[in-house]
Amino acid sequence: IRHLLSGADLDADTATQILDTAAEMATVAGREVKKLPALRGRTVVNLFYEDSTRTRISFEAAAKRLSADVINFSAKGSSVTKGESLKDTALTLQAMGADAVVVRHPASGAPHRLANWVDGSVVNAGDGTHEHPTQALLDAYTMRARLGRLAGLHVAIVGDVLHSRVARSNVLLLSTLGAKVTLVGPPTLIPVDWAARAGVGSVATDADPGTDVCYDLDAVLPGVDVVMMLRVQRERMNDSYFPSAREYARRYGLDGPRMRRLPEHAIVMHPGPMNRGMEITPEVADSPRSTIVEQVANGVSVRMAVLYLLLGGNNR
Ligand code: CP
Repeated sequence: IRHLLSGADLDADTATQILDTAAEMATVAGREVKKLPALRGRTVVNLFYEDSTRTRISFEAAAKRLSADVINFSAKGSSVTKGESLKDTALTLQAMGADAVVVRHPASGAPHRLANWVDGSVVNAGDGTHEHPTQALLDAYTMRARLGRLAGLHVAIVGDVLHSRVARSNVLLLSTLGAKVTLVGPPTLIPVDWAARAGVGSVATDADPGTDVCYDLDAVLPGVDVVMMLRVQRERMNDSYFPSAREYARRYGLDGPRMRRLPEHAIVMHPGPMNRGMEITPEVADSPRSTIVEQVANGVSVRMAVLYLLLGGNNR
């Protein structure tokens, strides 16, 4: 593949190749030799129009561990504040020799537009409420590392699914890799098309055989291998839409008693950043079942694999 814009860009073989390559990268990174020469002479641009901690830093760490040159661009403090367009910004960065552009943007579809304008590879690092494919890859990597497989796993994705690019990319990738996904949340925070397609509370239709929808978290917990809690994205809601924090936590927050309803082997995930006390309590976030810190560490290996396969693999 030339670009990574969506979970739908990945068939099972390509996704597995990325996860296997990430496992090799993790082995290298865990040894004394922390740097590989694979992308020496290549330039990776991090083009961030939206805030980020994990994604931006881990792409930077990944590119540097592969010996690439890294240019970090943040819209704040740039000529974007003077009205410069995404296209002109991208062409400016390309003129400085970008081989890959890692882009985060509040507008859904912005990375797809960018891919038409630049010669290099484009990686979607989160576009609006649309997709975040490298987050889904690192989540899949973490599930496979902890539970030994992806095919046949039952994954509950819980909370503000409506505004979640993480949920959308996970649904696409996990379905491709043979896992079953149940989306759980209040009806106002589940996309109507997914609820309609799945039939609420029932097994999904042929159109989307791996995904169903349930509004009752307590009913779902005893039967899952993975519970992935999502942040309630206040910044994407207007006030009338925003649920009361206490009511939300009571019905959809993962606390200690709810965690103990999970099967013994089940893990708890969260892409971060967390609203501690709302969708997840500190007791759960910091428990041995939680993979939240592992997800961040795995993100570096997965992003190394993505950059390596886009820039250093068979494509060039
Ligand atoms: N999970 C995630 O995308 O986190 P950041 O917004 O900090 O990059």
